[in-house]
Amino acid sequence: MQQPEGVAPAAPIPTATSAAAPRIEVTGIKKRFGSIEALRGVDLAVWPGEVVGLVGDNAAGKSTLTKIISGAYVPDAGQIAVDGVPVTFADPADARDARIEMVYQDLSLCDTIDVAGNLFLGREPTRRVLGWRLLDKRRMAAEAKQHLDALDIHIPNLGALVAQLSGGQRQTIAIGRAAAFDPKLLIMDEPTSALAVAEVDAVLRLIKRLAAGGVSIILITHRLQDLFRVCDRIAVMYEGLKVAERRIDETDLEDLVGLIVGEKARKLRGATDGG
Ligand SMILES: Nc1ncnc2c1ncn2[C@@H]1O[C@H](COP(=O)(O)OP(=O)(O)OP(=O)(O)O)[C@@H](O)[C@H]1O
Ligand SMILES: [Mg+2]
Repeated sequence: MQQPEGVAPAAPIPTATSAAAPRIEVTGIKKRFGSIEALRGVDLAVWPGEVVGLVGDNAAGKSTLTKIISGAYVPDAGQIAVDGVPVTFADPADARDARIEMVYQDLSLCDTIDVAGNLFLGREPTRRVLGWRLLDKRRMAAEAKQHLDALDIHIPNLGALVAQLSGGQRQTIAIGRAAAFDPKLLIMDEPTSALAVAEVDAVLRLIKRLAAGGVSIILITHRLQDLFRVCDRIAVMYEGLKVAERRIDETDLEDLVGLIVGEKARKLRGATDGG
């Protein structure tokens, strides 16, 4: 696995207008679980620095699609390309090597260690003392503070155990941790669903800040109002297919709701008409 030195800021990344290829492009992705066709041939592209909202009813296939992009599931069919280069991911470590990070709803933070420790989980800075590699706690705390400051994340006490923090603080730390890996693409599955209003604001601001720095973002959410604050584009899924895509200035809440449930209504009508 790539071991970035500290948490130095990302190299400049071309903007959506200057890039020759999408940051990530998936085509014809299919995935079946037993008799369930979770994905039935999905295409999606995200450009550098772009925030794409992924919406759809329960079981539409949103999480499955993003788990494939982040290497947690292997697709039955279809291609993935990063910056125009075809890739295959056998596991999440492969996706991480391609600088794709996913923040899960369960957050994967460690409750029993402090904020700085969580930011560096699995790649802690060490120093050599008499031939031994020791955890460099002072450097870890300093770099953690620097990294969180750069993202405008304010946690009063970096020495606090993560278990003592609010849901919103935990969420920003989980995102901050993913951002510390210098991702090209950051996927967030329902990052704001369990948060209070002020905490939602902090997470949305963080998403904007990361995108402004060139990170591409896929945001899954059922909170449609959040999408209009951060997204450039929205993709709508329905029963394993992408059924619509809209630039944010081409759509509104009513249109989106129609897209999410409209397909369903039409299908139900078709079933009734058919007998
Ligand atoms: N590991 C799995 N094993 C079996 N079935 C699965 C698995 N993962 C997903 N599915 C099924 O695939 C379909 C798509 O699920 P998925 O979790 O991708 O939906 P979703 O759009 O994320 O829904 P939600 O909004 O409820 O999170 C569902 O029918 C689900 O039951
Ligand atoms: Mg889901």
